[in-house]
Amino acid sequence: MARKKISINDLYLKKSANEKVSWLTCYDFPTAQFQEAAGIEMILVGDSMGMCVYGYQGTIPVTMDQCIVHSEAVRRGAPTAFVIGDMPFMSYQESDQVAVANAGRFLKEANVDAIKLEGGVRTASRVQAIVDAGIVVCGHIGLTPQSSGQLGGHKAQGRTAETAELVIKDALAIEAAGAQLILLEAIPPELSAVITQKLKIPVYGIGAGLDTDGQLLIVSDLVGQFQAFTPKFVKKYCDVAKIYTNAFKEYIKDVKTQAFPEDQHCYHIIKGEEERFEEMLKKFK
Ligand code: KIV
Repeated sequence: MARKKISINDLYLKKSANEKVSWLTCYDFPTAQFQEAAGIEMILVGDSMGMCVYGYQGTIPVTMDQCIVHSEAVRRGAPTAFVIGDMPFMSYQESDQVAVANAGRFLKEANVDAIKLEGGVRTASRVQAIVDAGIVVCGHIGLTPQSSGQLGGHKAQGRTAETAELVIKDALAIEAAGAQLILLEAIPPELSAVITQKLKIPVYGIGAGLDTDGQLLIVSDLVGQFQAFTPKFVKKYCDVAKIYTNAFKEYIKDVKTQAFPEDQHCYHIIKGEEERFEEMLKKFK
């Protein structure tokens, strides 16, 4: 039986039942179909597409138009998952008005269920403005890759008492601003456990330990597709780089040795047409 569409209410029910939620990034239609078939509950069309799909050094160059196109494709492939569009750098930083307009594009053009944006206390007014427009918002605090320059790189956050307090204040500010979900990235499990206890909204983690309401991973890390680096929190479940490269090597070898194509891969002249075909060829002798 086809699965019922997952709604924000379902995510709250899972939190109260202490049922952990599975969440992955996704950027394209076929992968979305595989994730949907596997039963993934949430999908983030992350601006990590900058590195995972486009080969950029980071997320900064990613545009709204790229995020919309990829979100549309993912939505088509995963009709029942809870799909979140990720607001790219400078799609919300400038003003509340710009933030609302861009968040609205995700819903109108890509039919996603929610949007995600980075930042704590300093992003609270953006969160509130988008929520006031009737859009479900997922906050994202801890390591926030779009401001990794200010953080001194892609570094875990909240590892001292002072910085952990800042992360807690960020979480409280985002919940108070009306976000209905929040993601904690690369913070100590001791800290994410406290935040998950303290907040009423579902709290998910990537590199934040076990004691959250669910886990997010980047699909390209999970399947072994992203080659540049592997963060400590990644668990690799398969190695598509190896599978793809071996398949490509086999193909190249088959082409060179004429092991491919075989007869089963060919379209022959239709039975009964052979004589007329031979006759026709005489014109070209
Ligand atoms: O874009 C993304 O995939 C993200 C994760 C790193 C959390 O925002």
